[in-house]
Amino acid sequence: MRNFSKVTFVVAAAAFSLSLGTRLSAHGDVTPQPVDTTALPDIQPNNDTWLEHNPYRGNAKAIEIGQSAYAQNCARCHGLGAVSGGIAPDLRYLELGDEGDTWYLERYRHGSVRDGKVYMPPMAEALGQKAGWAIRSWLETVHADD
Ligand code: HEC
Repeated sequence: MRNFSKVTFVVAAAAFSLSLGTRLSAHGDVTPQPVDTTALPDIQPNNDTWLEHNPYRGNAKAIEIGQSAYAQNCARCHGLGAVSGGIAPDLRYLELGDEGDTWYLERYRHGSVRDGKVYMPPMAEALGQKAGWAIRSWLETVHADD
């Protein structure tokens, strides 16, 4: 009898940690979704040399690609349509223009790690520079003021 209840407990604990694990990974799963940027002009001198400012600002194709790239890679934390649900900053309030580019790029390239906890994973390596600026181009079209 004692052994039996112990087994039951172990099974219950395993089932619990399994469901916890699934829930955690549902939230923390940030496998980047590749973005097709072939329709955008390559960055000079090459796509791996980081520019300081957005070369695609106002480019209609970049805005279109950026919107879907955002939906696939950023919305789960920053909210659909860039309207934050509260777990990450609302990106509509990022500063426009060159000033905002700098901070945007900092997070896009390096993410945010504080006290060893990953608040935002770096995105640049997986998605690339062209996708990064495309997302930034779209974000500027949904900008909101304070
Ligand atoms: C796993 C969740 C997650 C994903 C996915 C994510 N972010 Fe973030 N992001 C955060 C969090 C949390 C912060 C706030 C970090 C902090 O305060 O240290 C943040 C901060 C930022 C900031 C700075 C905002 C500010 O007001 O300071 C930018 C820009 C940003 N993210 C862009 C992006 C872009 C672009 C993508 C998609 C390519 C993306 N993030 C994907 C969670 C995420």
